[in-house]
Amino acid sequence: MAMAIKSLIPSLVAALMIPTVIAAAGDEAALLAFKAQGAGLTGELSPAVGNLTFLQTLNLSSNWFHGEVPASLGRLRRLETLDLSFNSFSGAFPANLSSCISMNIMVLHSNKLSGHIPAELGNTLTSLEAISLKNNSFTGTIPPSLANLSHLQYLDLSSNQLEGSIPHGLGNIQSMWKLYPQTTSPVCFHSPFTTCHHWLALW
Ligand SMILES: *[C@@H]1O[C@H](CO)[C@@H](O)[C@H](O)[C@H]1NC(C)=O
Ligand SMILES: *[C@@H]1O[C@H](CO)[C@@H](O)[C@H](O)[C@H]1NC(C)=O
Ligand SMILES: *[C@@H]1O[C@H](CO)[C@@H](O)[C@H](O)[C@H]1NC(C)=O
Ligand SMILES: *[C@@H]1O[C@H](CO)[C@@H](O)[C@H](O)[C@H]1NC(C)=O
Ligand SMILES: *[C@@H]1O[C@H](CO)[C@@H](O)[C@H](O)[C@H]1NC(C)=O
Repeated sequence: MAMAIKSLIPSLVAALMIPTVIAAAGDEAALLAFKAQGAGLTGELSPAVGNLTFLQTLNLSSNWFHGEVPASLGRLRRLETLDLSFNSFSGAFPANLSSCISMNIMVLHSNKLSGHIPAELGNTLTSLEAISLKNNSFTGTIPPSLANLSHLQYLDLSSNQLEGSIPHGLGNIQSMWKLYPQTTSPVCFHSPFTTCHHWLALW
């Protein structure tokens, strides 16, 4: 088993175009949870990343990646945590990410993503507990389907160009009101939220 996983190191190196020295430091656990935060990685993220189907965590925060987020990430059915924050990813939100059925935490903030937030997110990623899409260039309205994410505890869509009203159902997600009961500087302005918590930032 260990050997089988280790034999995947070359595909990891190829997929992420990372220096061998970083991947060689990885053991099986590292491969399940690939973290290369602030590693100075640059270029486009290869679609081959979709072959790393064993990944549970992919954290590429604070690098120099640009270009589109590969649709092939949707093949990572075991992925629980995805953090691509603080890069320069552009283009549309890949609707294929809604195929990552194990996803708990999705952090795409501080990129240059644009277009609409796909409604599929709310219909398929039912395990999602945290989503941050803040500080991108998303337009359009907040999909009402997000109200289907019954485990959601943290939702931050602030600093985009979203419009319209907040879907009513969002206010009914019970888990949102439990994790951080203390209120601090409210960031949302529309009903049905009579009390706004810092972790629920929509605009
Ligand atoms: C994924 O792996 C297969 C088999 O190793 C390979 O043929 C294919 O090119 C890889 N996909 C990508 C996008 O690199
Ligand atoms: C990704 O790595 C950064 C830097 O270490 C860390 O701050 C962040 O919490 C990680 N993301 C997740 C979702 O754990
Ligand atoms: C994206 O999802 C569609 C529909 O599930 C699928 O047909 C397509 O192959 C996926 N694309 C990639 C690159 O995995
Ligand atoms: C917003 O994202 C850009 C990258 O697109 C980053 O340089 C900037 O620091 C981010 N702003 C904040 C307030 O996080
Ligand atoms: C919630 O999901 C169900 C099935 O996945 C779908 O039919 C329904 O339209 C969704 N609700 C909203 C508000 O989109």
